Amino acid sequence: MKNVKNYLSENKDRFLNELIELLKIPSVSADPAYSQDVIDTAETVKRRLEEAGCDVVEIHETAGYPIVYGEKIINPDLPTVLVYGHYDVQPADPIDLWHSPPFEPVIKKNDAHPEGAIYARGACDDKGQMYMHVKALELMVKTDQLPCNVKFMIEGEEEVGSNNLGIYVAANKAKLANDVILISDTGMIANDVPSITTGLRGLSYVEVEVTGPNRDLHSGLYGGAVANPINILTKMIASLHDENNHVTIPGFYDKVEELSKEERAEMAKAPFSLESYQKALDIESVYGEKGYSTNERNSIRPTLDVNGIWGGYIGEGAKTVIASKAFAKISMRLVPNQDWKEITELFKTHFESIAPKGVTVKVKPHHGGQGYVTPIDTIAYQAASKAYETTFGKKPIPQRSGGSIPIVSLFEKELGSKTILMGFGLDSDAIHSPNEHFGVWNYFKGIETIPYFYEYFTEMNK
Ligand code: BES
Ligand code: MN
Ligand code: MN
Repeated sequence: MKNVKNYLSENKDRFLNELIELLKIPSVSADPAYSQDVIDTAETVKRRLEEAGCDVVEIHETAGYPIVYGEKIINPDLPTVLVYGHYDVQPADPIDLWHSPPFEPVIKKNDAHPEGAIYARGACDDKGQMYMHVKALELMVKTDQLPCNVKFMIEGEEEVGSNNLGIYVAANKAKLANDVILISDTGMIANDVPSITTGLRGLSYVEVEVTGPNRDLHSGLYGGAVANPINILTKMIASLHDENNHVTIPGFYDKVEELSKEERAEMAKAPFSLESYQKALDIESVYGEKGYSTNERNSIRPTLDVNGIWGGYIGEGAKTVIASKAFAKISMRLVPNQDWKEITELFKTHFESIAPKGVTVKVKPHHGGQGYVTPIDTIAYQAASKAYETTFGKKPIPQRSGGSIPIVSLFEKELGSKTILMGFGLDSDAIHSPNEHFGVWNYFKGIETIPYFYEYFTEMNK
């Protein structure tokens, strides 16, 4: 690849401004109030793909938000890279914890990003990372060095479970045929410690409802005599972990892939400072499953967490009341070989079975997906590794992540191809949280690294 750095430095301001424009559109897929903005974002992505050099760009309607499909086929005999990303973002709340409005991007410096970071919802997850691929395509096309075919599939429902994308992929296998899938929607260890994500956890997300009496009651007149759904729910939830922080659902660990001693020793080589980890979160100590390190707990081990819990009176002052109902949202992160539908069933059966007399329990499955592990002995991984080596001057470390992109395992099932997860975000970029940001350095490093992947992948396929 020639002139990568030149092209980048000549177009830096425009590349940054285009991303800022994209970040101004509040494409929150979870909240129907933003539906027009989500649709507008799809239109913007379509236009940008056309400008970057795609020959065909189409908007595919779904039962939910549209999928933007683009392609540039230069020679059917050459390999094809399919880029996946998402243009939808998480809700911005809690809004008052943002230091600047979530959809008015600003560039500010911080400890991890001395060259500045773009603060906005979606900056890192995933508009900023998705847009690196659009600009990398522009760079390769405009400098006349696109070495292979490229297809883009950018969806608007990743943050709400990608259900319609699953249907679209299954119905368009020939159109989406490819040799490798390339995604930037994960992170790396640090700007001076590049890594490539080799694993994603699966997910099962459920909502539970505990009902006691048929109406809210005076907590003096009835307190002590009837089951209080909030007391019961919290007790049931507490019983889902034992004293070693193992999940107590029968069968939960049955299919868990156990890593060998060697694999765990290899993992432990990745640089990690428990002290700075704790410091960054203002915690005195980490907490988790006995027998595993922090990096193991959040990547190769399955977990169960309450994501939200509500019921009763939470307004100003006090109200003496026993609520009729209590609710919680619970996520289970899964590892290879655990089947998310099976785990959802195990949860449901167990949770219903531990409900005491005097309450009824409903378990409502939301969405989920399988975990994913990408092998490192493939041409695709080697090409990615070499690309990082070229632009970072260091060999990247393969590392499994704790997050989930449920659609990735479905890609492999339906399209038969492996996914390479070239993430350029940092854990401290606060994705899904207030003050999400993406390093300006990371944005440009991504745009610089991606073309080398294309080059090496095409070369190695010859
Ligand atoms: N990009 C994230 C997933 C991610 C982030 C993986 C960082 C690895 C490292 C994605 O947008 C996401 O948030 N996924 C959800 C699941 C989805 C079904 C809502 C998640 O992991 O909670
Ligand atoms: Mn994402
Ligand atoms: Mn996300």
